[in-house]
Amino acid sequence: MNKKTSTVFVCNNCGQDFSKWLGRCTNCGAWDTIVEMRGVKATPSSKAAAAGPAQIVPFSSCTVNETNRIASPYPEIDRVLGGGLIPGAFILLGGDPGIGKSTLLLQLASAWAKTGSKVLYISGEESAEQIYARGSRLGVADSPVLMLTETSVETILNKLDEAAPDIVVIDSIQTMFSDAMESAPGSVSQVRESASLLLRFAKQHKAAVILIGHVTKDGSIAGPRVLEHMVDTVLYFEGDGHYQYRIVRAVKNRYGPSGEIAVMSMTDRGLAEISNPSEFFLLNRANPQVGTAVVPVLEGSRVLVVEVQSLVNKSHFGLPQRVASGINPKKLSLLLAVLERFGGFSLGEYDIFFNIAGGLTVAEPAVDLGVAASIISSFSNRPLRRDLGFIGELGLGGEIRPVNNMPLRIKELAHMGFTQCLAPRPPKKADWTMNNKGIEIIQCGRIGEVKEYIF
Ligand code: TYD
Ligand code: MG
Repeated sequence: MNKKTSTVFVCNNCGQDFSKWLGRCTNCGAWDTIVEMRGVKATPSSKAAAAGPAQIVPFSSCTVNETNRIASPYPEIDRVLGGGLIPGAFILLGGDPGIGKSTLLLQLASAWAKTGSKVLYISGEESAEQIYARGSRLGVADSPVLMLTETSVETILNKLDEAAPDIVVIDSIQTMFSDAMESAPGSVSQVRESASLLLRFAKQHKAAVILIGHVTKDGSIAGPRVLEHMVDTVLYFEGDGHYQYRIVRAVKNRYGPSGEIAVMSMTDRGLAEISNPSEFFLLNRANPQVGTAVVPVLEGSRVLVVEVQSLVNKSHFGLPQRVASGINPKKLSLLLAVLERFGGFSLGEYDIFFNIAGGLTVAEPAVDLGVAASIISSFSNRPLRRDLGFIGELGLGGEIRPVNNMPLRIKELAHMGFTQCLAPRPPKKADWTMNNKGIEIIQCGRIGEVKEYIF
């Protein structure tokens, strides 16, 4: 074998390679994170050999066979994957500890196993008894999933050759270690080596391999760059321990659109899909409250109708407080400045608190108009019209601008029973201004005119 032993240095924080030791990583700026990584470094020729002899083929023959996709009883998860699981896909599921990654994958594994795939669940974190206990709680104890508790990648690869599964779950990549590396499990060099060995298995045997990855304090997966570049699909499992709902988000997907989400809810019997998430996030429709506005936000191809809430109070101290959760605090300051200058609201002596109900975070500019309306409502101490939704971005000149996917957003508002929507005035004739059955579009070009329509 054409292999050579080499010593490289690698940053344990970001995974960057160096030829010599440094006190501070020049890539991510972290101090004292660069460690020596001794081991077998694959030369380009051995890498190529592992992938098998290359063939020149016509471009048109390089199709993914969509009929091979493995479906699950979770249509939302299948949609996030791009229409089901592709054989040979190498997937990373990242998320905070305790968010429900093992639960989700045990449910999926047993569902795939029940439909005839050979599924192997490999755990380096829990004993088989612990996993069985979880399985019985999830009601999947009778499923034909195969189990292995092991952390050595070499042993795992031997077992994989023997068992030849269609789908492999690795819980978690941070517990795996390869003998070729001297560093401890969980370090970037181990994570990288273990993942690349498993990647080779996935591609050679056309088995789908799903890695669970823990997220570090700063919100990235340990060894993030290496893993995210290596895998075909990166899924993030998001959520807040204080709320029941969880979101699976495709951050990267070579087999489908990225940005797609599935909303799930953690119950005492595992995770359940929420097929109509807007209903889940809209709780107070019957009694409109002062300071609450309703906005359709886009997540991937899904529209969620959410409530945004403001509380505007006279300030009793010198410097008024501005607290925002769910949107960027700088965005709140910007919207307040526009409201003050072009809306005619003097907000300088008021404390302003802002929140998106349910703990969601929204980065889209499409929420601007709804945020402004909720502030106007709280400031005026009057509830907004009950059946009115808000769509639009606020410009620094006080103008209300159209946003992308207006028809989709309007449709979801109508679906949720709203009868009116305050929306921008489009520069040209736009389709979404006409033929909206059941919902009246109120066009408004400037923030100064908004108060005429909202109460
Ligand atoms: P787990 O899947 O172990 O998280 P991870 O693998 O991401 O670390 O989920 C752990 C949490 O989920 C734990 O706090 C208990 C909760 N849980 C439920 O609420 N219902 C259930 O049916 C299960 C199995 C777990
Ligand atoms: Mg776990």
